Amino acid sequence: MIDSNPGAAPRAESDRILIFDTTLRDGEQSPGASMTLEEKLKVAELLDAMGVDIIEAGFPIASEGDFEAVAQVAQRVKRATVAGLARSAAKDIDRAGEALRHAAQPRIHTFISTSPLHMKFKLNKEPAEVLEMVTASVKRARNYVADVEWSAEDGTRSEIDFLCRCVELAIKAGATTINIPDTVGYTIAEEYQALFETVRARVPDSDKAVFSVHCHDDLGLAVANSLAGIKGGARQVECTMNGLGERAGNAALEEIVMALKVRADRLPYHTSIDASMLTRASKLVSAVSSFPVQYNKAIVGRNAFAHEAGIHQDGMLKHAGTYEIMTPESVGVGKTSLVMGKHSGRHAFKEKLKELGYELGDNAFEDAFLRFKDLADRKKTVYDEDLVALVDDEIVHAHERIKLVALSVIAGTGGPQSAALTIDVDGRRLTYQATGNGPIDAIFNAIRALVPHEAVLELYQVHAVTEGTDAQAEVSVRLAEDGKTVTARGADPDTLVASARAYIAALNKLMVKRGRHRPEILAG
Ligand code: KIV
Ligand code: ZN
Repeated sequence: MIDSNPGAAPRAESDRILIFDTTLRDGEQSPGASMTLEEKLKVAELLDAMGVDIIEAGFPIASEGDFEAVAQVAQRVKRATVAGLARSAAKDIDRAGEALRHAAQPRIHTFISTSPLHMKFKLNKEPAEVLEMVTASVKRARNYVADVEWSAEDGTRSEIDFLCRCVELAIKAGATTINIPDTVGYTIAEEYQALFETVRARVPDSDKAVFSVHCHDDLGLAVANSLAGIKGGARQVECTMNGLGERAGNAALEEIVMALKVRADRLPYHTSIDASMLTRASKLVSAVSSFPVQYNKAIVGRNAFAHEAGIHQDGMLKHAGTYEIMTPESVGVGKTSLVMGKHSGRHAFKEKLKELGYELGDNAFEDAFLRFKDLADRKKTVYDEDLVALVDDEIVHAHERIKLVALSVIAGTGGPQSAALTIDVDGRRLTYQATGNGPIDAIFNAIRALVPHEAVLELYQVHAVTEGTDAQAEVSVRLAEDGKTVTARGADPDTLVASARAYIAALNKLMVKRGRHRPEILAG
């Protein structure tokens, strides 16, 4: 059974797998998963501390927000290489080069489609033109940085001769990493392994570049395919925390890392990831993207180490290895522990946060402490999970322009239900009383009256952070406007307050996404 790092023996550099995390780019592209700049910086810092080798921070040409995220992550991150994505157009590459200007270790990641389907219908280009663009794009990127990754979009549905020619030209032009993505999640393991073996064998100077896998999960095969690509000679894996990503998502970082650790007997490779930080990273990404982690998700799901069946519990009591192939501690799951009560002071609270992996600035710490005291007054037992939900909520909402100040609700059988809501918008206090078809409807109507908007509520979901009727509620709200979707979360022991927090957080995110500078206010 895996506990910490099993490999005491020296390990060859040729067996090291580079972890390229694209949570902030491919992950953030999934509908509704958009993150604010502050959230991206928090995630990047944690990924860096966890040992990720390359952090893809965004697609600088896509928006001002993406440009800023790449530029700021590049300045903030101390250890990892920071990558910015670019299509093969000159303006894309120039923008990526500009965003990465201050990075200690910058990488431009440029891509173009190489499959017949994509070249004809998406690019409307002849293969000969694509070949020219491969060379031109890589050469242009090399004028900015020495570390250039070239990707063959829809690589797994490309003709092998053409793909090899593209890879050859990319290496000749100076690409140092060659990525062959399974863009549409179509390949299967043996096929993907053989693809890497073939390309590496046929392309001259293939040993001058690191080969990379990038798998999507449309058939649920992303992790298996990534591991097969490694067997085929790839030494970089592109993946995301919680498998966040376009459509069915990308290969999950935590699954790749733990598969390599737990099955080191058949997969003799290693990464630089500190696996004990996986749970913490998963929770942060889930909080900032507002994408819940499914209960039975491998490695980081809340049931991943839970044993319900009597026969399993019996086995576990006799020897944990009977039903566990890795320890919960090895991925950072601590025993659910009672932390502190209402008498705990600032010092104990700070120590506890440190143990959970948080270091907050003075203001954020003070706000979190006040909320903890409030929670401890209202809730019998405060668990680590409660603190994680509370602090993540604080981090996510700290920089918001619309803030919840007060809420009181009249609910019950009589109807109509009503909500009196006070919010703070850029320092202005606003209050409104609204009725609705139920208390949640009344709260949302009050918000709509104070901050008018056209966005449509697409999802409203509640789940309990821990057990018991006094558990904190975590509410997710998704809003859609003009084809843009945002999801946000709010946590509080009162489900109605959590609902208001979540809706307001979604509006804040929507404002950032719209690039609008002032929320329009109707009532005041
Ligand atoms: O899935 C894909 O092909 C991509 C590329 C841009 C690397 O995300
Ligand atoms: Zn992708």
